[in-house]
Amino acid sequence: MQRPRIVLLVGLPGSGKSTWAARQNLPVLSSDEIRRLLLDDPADQRANRRVFQILRFLLKQRLALRRALSCVDATHLTRAERRPYLALAEIYDCEVEAVFFDVPLEVCKDRNRSRSRVVPEDVLDRMAARLEPPTLEEGFTRLQVVREFPVSGKHS
Ligand SMILES: Nc1ncnc2c1ncn2[C@@H]1O[C@H](COP(=O)(O)OP(=O)(O)OP(=O)(O)O)[C@@H](O)[C@H]1O
Ligand SMILES: [Mg+2]
Repeated sequence: MQRPRIVLLVGLPGSGKSTWAARQNLPVLSSDEIRRLLLDDPADQRANRRVFQILRFLLKQRLALRRALSCVDATHLTRAERRPYLALAEIYDCEVEAVFFDVPLEVCKDRNRSRSRVVPEDVLDRMAARLEPPTLEEGFTRLQVVREFPVSGKHS
C-alpha cells in the first residue's frame, strides 16, 4: 500500500493557497475552516493555539485511517511552523510535500484588497518579513513552487 501523503501549503495570505487547493479538488484541512467552526469567523485569530491543535488532531485521525492524501491549508510561513508535520510523518509513516506559493508581496496585497476577508496591510508586511521559503532539506519528499496560474475571469 502506498504511504499516505500530506500536502502542506506555504504562502502569504492572498497568495492563492485555498484557490489552488479547491481547483485541484484536494481534501483540505484548513485553519480558516476550523476558526469558522470554533469562532463563527474564519478571520478571528484569538484562538490559534486551539485551532492548530484541532487541525493536527484531525490530520492525525486521517493518517491513522490511512487516508491517501491530506492537504493542510494554512500559511506555514516558518520552518518552526512546518516541523510538526514532518514529525507526524515519521510517526505515521507518510510523506510530506510542500507547495510554496512564491507570489510577490505586492500581488498578495492586490488580491487581498479585492476580496471579502481583508487582512490588514501591516499584518501582511510583518508576515512577509517572517516568511522562510521551504526547502527540501527540511525533510519534504517533494517541493513544488506555484508562481502564477490562470483563474477563470481573472488575469494574474
Ligand atoms: N492565480 C491567481 N490569479 C489571480 N487571482 C488569484 C489567484 N489565486 C487566487 N486569486 C485571488 O486572490 C484572492 C486570495 O486567494 P486565496 O483566498 O486562495 O488566498 P490564500 O492564500 O488562501 O489566502 P489566506 O491565507 O488568507 O487564506 C482571492 O480573491 C482569489 O480569487
Ligand atoms: Mg486561504
